[in-house]
Amino acid sequence: MTKLRAGWTARRTLALGFCSAMFAVQMASAQMPLPAAKPPDGATLFKQQCATCHTSNTSDPVRQGPSLYKIVGRHAGKADGFKYSAGFAKTDFVWDDARLDAWLTNPQEVIPGAVMAYRQAKPETRAMIIAYLKELN
Ligand code: HEC
Repeated sequence: MTKLRAGWTARRTLALGFCSAMFAVQMASAQMPLPAAKPPDGATLFKQQCATCHTSNTSDPVRQGPSLYKIVGRHAGKADGFKYSAGFAKTDFVWDDARLDAWLTNPQEVIPGAVMAYRQAKPETRAMIIAYLKELN
């Protein structure tokens, strides 16, 4: 009889302990900060990081840099009426994923003397922006 009782008490204590542990976990997660707002998409990133200097169409007035409308598949340095830095005259390539990725990482490494004051070290951010640029085609 005593043995039975002791067993029951032990189980009860265990169950209680488990419950309060669960409760503590729930309390802890209730106090965790809310997950960050969903990461920005390519269009938002473009607006934040490129649009000060680039338009994504041909109707807005040109900014500090050339329009990037249909840039993927376009020859480097060929936006109508834009005066590029000297290095562009010596380049002869078409913008594709790899070139754009290298350019956004470090423009001066792709075209020496390029005057674009921008660098993006995060590969996933560059990829999202490039995906957005493709949507302009
Ligand atoms: C501070 C202004 C500035 C920002 C910000 C900027 N750019 Fe530029 N970009 C320029 C300038 C200026 C040029 C022309 C460079 C030259 O003539 O050397 C250029 C050139 C380019 C070119 C070559 C265009 C062509 O016709 O060959 C691409 C592609 C480009 N930028 C993409 C981007 C993207 C994508 C972003 C955002 C992630 C960005 N740039 C952010 C100023 C900027």
